[in-house]
Amino acid sequence: MFIDDLPTPALIIDAGALEANLATMAQAWPGSRLRPHAKAHKCSSLARVQQRFGHTGFTCATPREISGLARAGIEADFLLANESVDPARLGAIASTGATVAVDSDETVRAAARAGISKVLVDVFVGLPRCGVEPDDAARLADLARSLHLEVRGVMGYEGHLMMLNDPAAKRERVTLAMETLRDCSEKVGGDIISAGGTGTWREHLDTGITELQAGSYALMDTSYATLGLPFHQAVHVVGTVISRAVGWAVADVGLKALGMDHGNPEVDGYDVWFCSDEHVTFAVKRDPDSHGAPTFLPGVGEHVLVTPAHVDPTMSQHERAWVHRDGLVVDEWAIDLRGW
Ligand SMILES: Cc1ncc(COP(=O)(O)O)c(C=O)c1O
Repeated sequence: MFIDDLPTPALIIDAGALEANLATMAQAWPGSRLRPHAKAHKCSSLARVQQRFGHTGFTCATPREISGLARAGIEADFLLANESVDPARLGAIASTGATVAVDSDETVRAAARAGISKVLVDVFVGLPRCGVEPDDAARLADLARSLHLEVRGVMGYEGHLMMLNDPAAKRERVTLAMETLRDCSEKVGGDIISAGGTGTWREHLDTGITELQAGSYALMDTSYATLGLPFHQAVHVVGTVISRAVGWAVADVGLKALGMDHGNPEVDGYDVWFCSDEHVTFAVKRDPDSHGAPTFLPGVGEHVLVTPAHVDPTMSQHERAWVHRDGLVVDEWAIDLRGW
């Protein structure tokens, strides 16, 4: 079967591009130095490939990602890099030996009550999301230890810096954020300093963190492509043109088949006008010749390749991914880590 034979919209993964991305990252961040983020693909089969590239731990955003990886038979050092006070969900991952991020007395107590044995203190390093104030990190670690939790160290996610496109400013601000985290690490104890993502993978090579939490690097998206990173686009959604007018065409890849929070997807070399639930409307570029872009629209029944702007929420819209090599479908992977 070829990708053109798939029922659309069909999520496809280019095995060659994926392997190149995993190899590039594993060379810079080998073994346990990289803790790949499973939320970026939500696929235990892909996680297994990441293990083959030498990585021994996974970062997860939901308890479901951890329990799903364990159910798929993956044994690893799991980190829930996110806060939870849900006793059932925390209880469900306790037997995996997962380490859980905490940033408040409530999350520490919830972890202890649910039978979790290890925590990381999540520190605020500038992104107004999770993370304890740096001044309170040591006290929180003491509280955790008083409840017989092992404190493995600290994490801090500098998500607000991922998309900075000025290399000097990025380096300076990431370095500053990590000075805060390293300072907390000394007060908190433990030997893990976990941070970063695809957008800051290079900067972190000399920030002193012990592990990088990158996820998007494996499959990539058009947002991250704007940074000129050495990772290739490995995921697309195949669509079928279902309607055509004089000035535009419509394919069956709408916002319910895509993550749209980073904007419109790209459709081959066309201009995307907008997405609705089940449609993407696109047209020939105004100045197609200068970009080498197509000068005519595809006909009804023809296929187009749609590239998502944000990989994580795109993956979670699909039940399966078709893995291909040069268009030949070689495998089918369940996107089995969806849900919470
Ligand atoms: C806690 C945490 N760590 C790391 C990442 C990095 O992910 P990515 O490599 O996809 O930017 C994210 C992304 O949102 C995150 O929430």
